[in-house]
Amino acid sequence: MRILGIETSCDDTAAAVVEAKGGFANPSLPTEASAQAGFSILSNVSYSQVAIHKKFGGIVPNLASRAHLEKIMPTIKGALSAAKTKLGDIDLIAVTRGPGLMPSLLIGVNAARALAYRFRKPIIGVNHMEGHIFSNWLSERIGGIFPSVILIVSGGHTELILMSDYGKYKIIGRTLDDAAGECFDKTARLLGLGFPGGPAIAAEAAKISNPKSEVRKKLQITKHKLHIELPRPMINSKDYNFSFSGLKTAVLYLYNDLIKKYPPEEIKPAMAAEIQNAVIDVLTAKTARAVKNFNPKIVMIAGGVSANKKLREAMAAKINSCGIPFFAPDLSCATDNAAMIAAAGYFNYLRKKPAKDGWKKLEADANLSL
Ligand code: KG4
Ligand code: ZN
Repeated sequence: MRILGIETSCDDTAAAVVEAKGGFANPSLPTEASAQAGFSILSNVSYSQVAIHKKFGGIVPNLASRAHLEKIMPTIKGALSAAKTKLGDIDLIAVTRGPGLMPSLLIGVNAARALAYRFRKPIIGVNHMEGHIFSNWLSERIGGIFPSVILIVSGGHTELILMSDYGKYKIIGRTLDDAAGECFDKTARLLGLGFPGGPAIAAEAAKISNPKSEVRKKLQITKHKLHIELPRPMINSKDYNFSFSGLKTAVLYLYNDLIKKYPPEEIKPAMAAEIQNAVIDVLTAKTARAVKNFNPKIVMIAGGVSANKKLREAMAAKINSCGIPFFAPDLSCATDNAAMIAAAGYFNYLRKKPAKDGWKKLEADANLSL
């Protein structure tokens, strides 16, 4: 089955052609059978709007919508031609219908509906968060082991989810304010490190993890004076919720204080490393807590922040020490992409069997929940 995935929920215009094969036919099959199955990514094309939003330090919805409109058709065409596939050969169109920015979602949803109508194809709306979850099914070590605990960490979401079967999700914890990615984006902005903040913070932090780096040598001289310690919000709370806005405020005050005494090139890498550590400590602690209480067979991570190398390492160590495996999506599928939407769309299609004229009813929903 060939699926055309389309994703425009935020600031990436993305399209992909994914082929589902093997024992996926019945998604409730035992793990051994579904292990025979797999997805092949025939193409995964994405046009990033980072250059457009960079100067604003965040995503500007109207500019995002305009750029999606300009790029949606070339991106879909690009995905089809890279996959050497014609629209006529597509068996299903899967499109993100929420959550996300309404002006962005509408472009992808309406393009998908128009194609479904014109080419008489079944169409299915996909929840963006479910798409992130299914990015774990795109790698060789395919998901499908239940119950699993999934940590979704993106620019808009931080959620701990208990997945007991296909389509069966229970949100066991979530952020009470900012998402983890948002925290990286906002603190990177405070430090003048650029956008998106996650990779910028990671790169800045790496400056001091290299033992040979000049900055690190300098920092060791001033170490006794330069005390950088940030809070780990809610790390000991007896639930699975998160809070990251206090971290942002703590960074603001500490940075404004330190900048009076030390040169920014010394403070920034140490601040970035501490921000990264604080976020990782909280995420790993809360996930380990969920493992102890819910006894999953596996833990997976998903969402743009899952691209963070230190987070992957820390999670793998912590979860493996609990005696269960840890999965993370391939790096190419960690941040927003359309292959994950195609994969999630496939499982939804098997469960829901959409009507032939599904395009009539499909609507974007900015606040769609799992
Ligand atoms: O899932 P995603 O691509 O878009 C949303 O659905 O929000 O996630 C984007 C978020 C941004 O906040 C970005 O700063 C963060 O993922 N991110 C990272 C890394 N790459 C992207 N955060 C930490 N480390 C990274 N390497
Ligand atoms: Zn996302």
